[in-house]
Amino acid sequence: MAEIGEMFSYISKTYDLLNHILSFNIDKAWRKTAISYIDGNNVLDIATGTADVALAIHKADPTKNVIGADISIGMLNIALKKTKGINNINLICADALNLPFNDNFFDNVIISFGIRNIKNRIQALYEFKRVLKPSGKLLVLEFSKPKNPIINAAYIVYKDYCLPQIAGVFSNKTAYEYLSKTIRYFPNPVFLSDAMLQVGFKRVNIRMLSFGVACLHIAHKEG
Ligand SMILES: C[S@@+](CC[C@H](N)C(=O)[O-])C[C@H]1O[C@@H](n2cnc3c(N)ncnc32)[C@H](O)[C@@H]1O
Repeated sequence: MAEIGEMFSYISKTYDLLNHILSFNIDKAWRKTAISYIDGNNVLDIATGTADVALAIHKADPTKNVIGADISIGMLNIALKKTKGINNINLICADALNLPFNDNFFDNVIISFGIRNIKNRIQALYEFKRVLKPSGKLLVLEFSKPKNPIINAAYIVYKDYCLPQIAGVFSNKTAYEYLSKTIRYFPNPVFLSDAMLQVGFKRVNIRMLSFGVACLHIAHKEG
């Protein structure tokens, strides 16, 4: 766990720049789609990183209270700078596997490009369900694999070969090779939605984005 946090701290200074370059800025649209499902006032952005999701929520509705939590101090330091002066975004260093919040606390929990870095996903899903209020909503935005074989082949070449090379110029090639590998081994959307149902979420909807390069899960806690 500490190793993942350290790796993200190591790449934190160039994380935002590379995210936008490597995704041709599409990452912003994906986050915007994900936050359009937020319907409560009290939101946890877990694995907040540099707080792009927390800031997008604030931009869409400045009255919402957002807590951004992450295990990487380096990422949180960047997040602190970006959210300076915004009273209703609060940041905390916390592990998704052991959240320091009471049961039934949040209206929505969102995790964007974070869950594939968490090995014990079932435990994390249990934690997300525990801190959600009854009828609360969990939103999971993550990379996926395009179903169209031609698009998928092009995507694999880009992700496995081009992406680490570009990343190597601005940041750390090995870290991005690792991130690319985590996308390869991340389970398909149906597997993740089955895991959500297994931990007790009642209804799970899946929305594929950009030909399946990314995927949004919307899971509902029982009311
Ligand atoms: C790829 S970044 C995503 C950041 C941000 N949510 C975004 O959309 O750009 C993944 C983040 O997950 C965090 N992370 C990984 N494992 C974690 C855990 N167990 N608990 C909390 N955060 C975790 C990392 O430190 C990193 O900041």
